[in-house]
Amino acid sequence: MTSTQPYPAAAAYGRLLDQANRHDPYPHFTELAQEPIQRLDENSWLVSRHADITALLRDPRLSSEDGAGPQGPPGSDGRPFRGPFLLVDPPHHNTLRDQTMHQFMPRIMGMGPRIEAMVARLLDRHAGTRPGELDIVTALAYPLPVGVICELLGVPEEEEPVFHSFAARLTRALDPVETLTAQEIAELQVTRAQWREYLMPMIARRRDRPGIDLVSGLLTEGDPATRMNTLELATTLGLLLIAGHETTVNLITNGTLALLRHPDVLDRLRADPDLAPAVVEEALRFDPPVQQTSRRTTADVRIAGEVVPAGSRVVFLLGAANRDPRRFADPDRFWPERPGNAHLAFGGGVHYCFGAALARMEGQAALSAIAARLTGPRLLADPPPYRTNMLLRGPAELRVAYDAVT
Ligand code: HEM
Repeated sequence: MTSTQPYPAAAAYGRLLDQANRHDPYPHFTELAQEPIQRLDENSWLVSRHADITALLRDPRLSSEDGAGPQGPPGSDGRPFRGPFLLVDPPHHNTLRDQTMHQFMPRIMGMGPRIEAMVARLLDRHAGTRPGELDIVTALAYPLPVGVICELLGVPEEEEPVFHSFAARLTRALDPVETLTAQEIAELQVTRAQWREYLMPMIARRRDRPGIDLVSGLLTEGDPATRMNTLELATTLGLLLIAGHETTVNLITNGTLALLRHPDVLDRLRADPDLAPAVVEEALRFDPPVQQTSRRTTADVRIAGEVVPAGSRVVFLLGAANRDPRRFADPDRFWPERPGNAHLAFGGGVHYCFGAALARMEGQAALSAIAARLTGPRLLADPPPYRTNMLLRGPAELRVAYDAVT
């Protein structure tokens, strides 16, 4: 078969990627999920079911590396470049992830009250106007995660806009390359170089005079033999920013949208703040911020009866798996109280989301504050306009009218 005769799934996948369908990709996920596995082109396959994806995310024959080898220069000790660890297989993956986790976890453990205070401060800015309107994205969903990540990395508040701008531009790197124009690919290369230029002096300062922040910890603690070199550290910080920012923006925005479309749930959350964890889990399942992820087979692998040859790209449709009727009763219903909500929004296996605990804290703080403090909230545009990103999908803005912010 030639590339001018696409495989049948290619047309449905094209509809999924189409910006015109960004506001509601779920009918297209459902269509693709009619078959557990489908060939997209000569080299790529789509997998849609919850059970298959859950197993394959844990299968060591599926690699997160692109097969092209290290993407950076070796360190001064001659060791090959490692990272970003999202795209690295064990054993280097575990070394890099463990070092970063060791610095990250203790710092986020006590952050709950700080995050709640940041949310309160952001909403306070709107407390004076009644009635009024705000855009959830600019008012809360964007500034919160960037403020949190800057605090974790010890970045001063005045540099937050710089981080914000890098986050927005670097995120495009995660999208399927077929959705990027040549100009966007060229711009990404420039942005990556600018990001390293921006970080290098900061890393050098911490190396000279370590503080108590995460970057200083990564530079000075642990086994010197496996410690990250400067470029690996810059790459890891870029990963934390890309993986942790737009995803959390989308969780807060998608979650708010779901609540405003389901006023009964919003009322229940307002009456019972303890419902916040369940609301966040259901928002993650119902409208996942990361819609798909992929791997490369390093051996022939049998998936749902098909033999996928070594060297193939396998795309996991998380948006389909989270609505798989074999796993979730009434999957199209937004139902926080659903039993056994084992969604795949954070992936699974060794690459299970590194920042899941932090994302949950931010999501719960934001959604419970919206429920508690916005009286009479209503959507001003439904559906809202969406950003062009397919992989990290979410509204560009979410305008809400309210009677008061209390
Ligand atoms: C990995 C989703 C927030 C950092 C992942 C993966 C998913 C995901 C699906 C697995 C990707 C794969 O296996 O190919 C999300 C969602 C978030 C979120 C939906 C918010 C709602 C965060 C935050 C951080 C973060 C706040 C950090 C501050 C990472 C990192 C990885 C990752 C570093 C790579 C882990 C590894 O390779 O071991 N995330 N994420 N994420 N996430 Fe998140």
